[in-house]
Amino acid sequence: MNTSKADYLQTDLTYLIHALHNRRLHENCGHVWIKGDGAILVDADGREFIDGLSGLWNVVAGHGRKELVEAAAAQMQTLAYCSTYAGSSHPTVIRLAERLAGLSYPSIRRFFFTSGGGESSDTCFKTARYFWRMQGRLEKTKIISRQWGYHGTTLGAMNATGIASYWPMFESKLPGFVQIPSPYPYRYVAPAGVSPGIAAANELEKAILREGPETVAMFFAEPVQGSAGVIVPPEDYFPRIREICDQYDVLLVTDEVITGFGRTGKMWGLQHYGVQPDMIQFAKAITSGYFPLGGIGVSERIANVLDTADQTWMHAFTYSGHPVGCAVALRTLDIIEQEDFPAQATEKGAYFLSGLQVALASHPHVGEVRGKGLMCAIEFVQDKATKAEYPAAEQIGHKVHLAAQRRGLYSRLRGDVFCLAPPIITPHKLLDRIVEIMTESVGEVLGA
Ligand SMILES: Cc1ncc(COP(=O)(O)O)c(C=O)c1O
Repeated sequence: MNTSKADYLQTDLTYLIHALHNRRLHENCGHVWIKGDGAILVDADGREFIDGLSGLWNVVAGHGRKELVEAAAAQMQTLAYCSTYAGSSHPTVIRLAERLAGLSYPSIRRFFFTSGGGESSDTCFKTARYFWRMQGRLEKTKIISRQWGYHGTTLGAMNATGIASYWPMFESKLPGFVQIPSPYPYRYVAPAGVSPGIAAANELEKAILREGPETVAMFFAEPVQGSAGVIVPPEDYFPRIREICDQYDVLLVTDEVITGFGRTGKMWGLQHYGVQPDMIQFAKAITSGYFPLGGIGVSERIANVLDTADQTWMHAFTYSGHPVGCAVALRTLDIIEQEDFPAQATEKGAYFLSGLQVALASHPHVGEVRGKGLMCAIEFVQDKATKAEYPAAEQIGHKVHLAAQRRGLYSRLRGDVFCLAPPIITPHKLLDRIVEIMTESVGEVLGA
């Protein structure tokens, strides 16, 4: 018996609490996805949509990859579950850690696994605190992150997340989390005579000095701020950040949950800037979304403390190193390497960004069309000259999104910034179709 989208949604409204639940806002624009193939999703009414954000930036290899299904099934048949608690291990997690050591930053060679990004953020915070504490530096506990950063919604991760709409209903916030401005090239205003990248990086130095270097454990940053609307830092930003972290003995921790595994055109985001972090976190693309898996990687310096400290690192998850997740990750890494996702993201990203720019950059209400690799965003503004935003109540981004959905494109927004990051395997003709849909949708809502 066929069940229609309307039938499903009625039951959904009765029983389900959604991620980012807001019944009033979403009651009339729900979707029920039934299947996927490549970059295409099909809903319960049989309508096809382009998956404009690869699920949530994760389905990089596209939907319906049989080899990932087979990897999961084979592992389930052999060993469906075992823990990695206190010395317990299994061959698949061992192989995955070894494989990551070979393709990560040279500085990062030891790995711990989680079920996703938020758990990884909390793991980074606790590991940074442990690292300093085990060396007798008990005060070094503060975490500095950035406005517009997105690091997840666990209580710890929420406190580092710099998108303010995630906090108010869950306050009070935890002490020890500090935020500095984002190096947002479209909006960050640098003092006269200083390069914007250096000025934005110097915000970190100011914060460290204000808080006291002896109290700061780590600086936490996405190489490209994804959920905030693809904020690409100036070239000189991260090299200066590395210098500041070294000068004040602060760990540089990068959140590569979106940028890891090729999305920006290199395997890791900071490789664009010739900088190595002390700790990284990853998730999403490592299994192309086929299984919940994330993790952190640490430098030898941090690994040495973990290996030699007197006190156990009392941090663990039941599903850390889940065999099925690790098997899917290993097979996904084969795909990422064999199909050269970094190269595909570079070539397709340049093609896609230029298509979007030609079609939309001169529109009077498009403030900026930007991107890095195959992650792009279009920022709508009320006044192009002053960069003034639309009043939130006008819901411009939402209206453009609805117009795009009517034409068969599904993605996500941050306010009036429309994000686009289709699967890396998306064929060029579908990238062209996204450009067409965006052009028509912007024209419908904001005028041609
Ligand atoms: C950069 C970044 N960090 C962390 C997270 C949180 O990941 P999760 O939703 O798996 O907890 C996300 C999710 O979008 C993310 O984009």
